[in-house]
Amino acid sequence: MRAGLAALVLLGCFLPATLVEAQDVEIGRQTAAKWCSGCHQIDPQSPVSNDTVPSFASIARMSSTTEMSLAAFLSTSHNRMPDFSLTRTEIRDVSAYILSLKQPAPRNRTD
Ligand code: HEC
Repeated sequence: MRAGLAALVLLGCFLPATLVEAQDVEIGRQTAAKWCSGCHQIDPQSPVSNDTVPSFASIARMSSTTEMSLAAFLSTSHNRMPDFSLTRTEIRDVSAYILSLKQPAPRNRTD
């Protein structure tokens, strides 16, 4: 019984990430370009706008970064980041985009 419950909880954690569509990632990238690129380097190809702000790729690589941690981070306010009041859909899409950067780098990438 307990194992069954644990499996269910685990499923609950992994399901959102697996259901993310490529389309969400693309919309998330556009949202990030609009709201986040002033401070964050949102993809490895774009210029670094601010040295003291972590790039989205480096955020994606942190083991603590999950869809859940991003959702929590983006739905609360932060001292060094403006309050965006993103909608839940925007948060999901931007999180999907950030997490998509964690995928293995293509061989021709130079960072
Ligand atoms: C005005 C500049 C600014 C903008 C715009 C901005 N950020 Fe940030 N962001 C920061 C700074 C500075 C930090 C580092 C926070 C710290 O270390 O206290 C940060 C940290 C983060 C982190 C957490 C990294 C960690 O350590 O866990 C995430 C996730 C993040 N930003 C996402 C976003 C997203 C998504 C957007 C667009 C919706 C965005 N940021 C827009 C300045 C900005």
